[in-house]
Amino acid sequence: MLPLESKRIVLGVTGSIACYKAADLASKLTQLGAEVDVILTSAAEHFIRPLTFQSVTGRRAYVDKDLWGPEGHVLHVKLGKDADLVLVAPATANTLSKLAAGQADNLLTLTILAATAPLMLAPAMDGGMYDHPATQASLETLRTHGASIHGPVSGHLASGLSGMGRMLEPAELAGYARVTLGAGGPLDGRRVLVSAGGTQEPIDPVRVIANRSSGKQGYALAQAALDMGAQVTLVSGPSALSAPTGADVVRVQTAIEMRDAVLAHAAQADILLMAAAVADFRPSNASDKKIKRAGGVPTIELAANPDILKEVSQQANKPAVLVGFAAESNDLLSNAQGKLASKGLDMIVANDVSAQDAGFEVDTNRVILLAKDGSQDELPLLSKYEVARKVLEKALSFLK
Ligand code: CTP
Repeated sequence: MLPLESKRIVLGVTGSIACYKAADLASKLTQLGAEVDVILTSAAEHFIRPLTFQSVTGRRAYVDKDLWGPEGHVLHVKLGKDADLVLVAPATANTLSKLAAGQADNLLTLTILAATAPLMLAPAMDGGMYDHPATQASLETLRTHGASIHGPVSGHLASGLSGMGRMLEPAELAGYARVTLGAGGPLDGRRVLVSAGGTQEPIDPVRVIANRSSGKQGYALAQAALDMGAQVTLVSGPSALSAPTGADVVRVQTAIEMRDAVLAHAAQADILLMAAAVADFRPSNASDKKIKRAGGVPTIELAANPDILKEVSQQANKPAVLVGFAAESNDLLSNAQGKLASKGLDMIVANDVSAQDAGFEVDTNRVILLAKDGSQDELPLLSKYEVARKVLEKALSFLK
């Protein structure tokens, strides 16, 4: 299952050099499963050809000339009415000004006027044009009409100057599109707290005890919860992954920091998904100076870390649904069953990390969902995103 399957997006592309990034955005949205109908303004056609978009979306891309073709009179209404989301990226000062005034003198502005779907705008222009009171007034008007404005950001501009006016990066815009399309989903109004990645326990200022968790399953859970309409807090150990757009991210290093962050957010959460690989032990006397080779082979004494899930399950104010993860190398089911009971969980996601295609670092996972009602769902090999959707669907069934 792809995250944006059966979603229709109208992507409006207007005349800015950031058009070249719009092709990447169209490709990303298509790869997420959306049907992307691109409409170029005539100014955009000077920067980029419709063929570029057709090649990445696999669908016809529309240009202004189509408005005056045989289907012109119905085209704008059809494109607008069928859309789940209208996204204009890049949005020039000229198009923003037209939209604010309700003008409809080309296929894109006509379509937007006819559409009832949420409107996302990603301005891109030179800094002076962005700062101009006319542009600011257009943006203000569009906000009051219900549009959401994403960016611009500050940085290098095509003029060679540096300033406010760069379009948000396609990955981030795709993230906001997911949040917008997820609104009203099955987790609408729910708060989901996710922990992800491994913790690191310092030995000295340069060395840590770490584990092989990449954070992929936890980040996929956070993204899936956003796609289902939840408000998401992601407590993450050190990870190379970029956090899903729209999640509130709390970065931690050690198990104790993770415990504090999880406890601080648990009372407000409806669902806790504890996907992090928390270190069970930490060096009891971490050195504040780098341990030197000349001092001989050191002995590192360990102290026990708190069991975060167990602590949460003992709180009076705890999430309605507690989900743990058990990564096991042997006796998978009996170990997972034991943790389900001893940690006071509603469900545990058990996976055999000795398999090559499941568990640490890879993009796929094969898990069994064990619930406290005794049910056992053995899932096939799935992407970590698909596993995340299944876990959330099951967790949601406990909330109802
Ligand atoms: N967990 C936790 N706090 C810890 C250790 C684990 O909250 N100090 C959580 C994990 O995030 C996971 C679940 O407990 O959701 C099971 O983690 P796991 O490491 O498999 O369990 P442990 O209790 O540490 O048991 P062991 O490592 O001995 O198998």
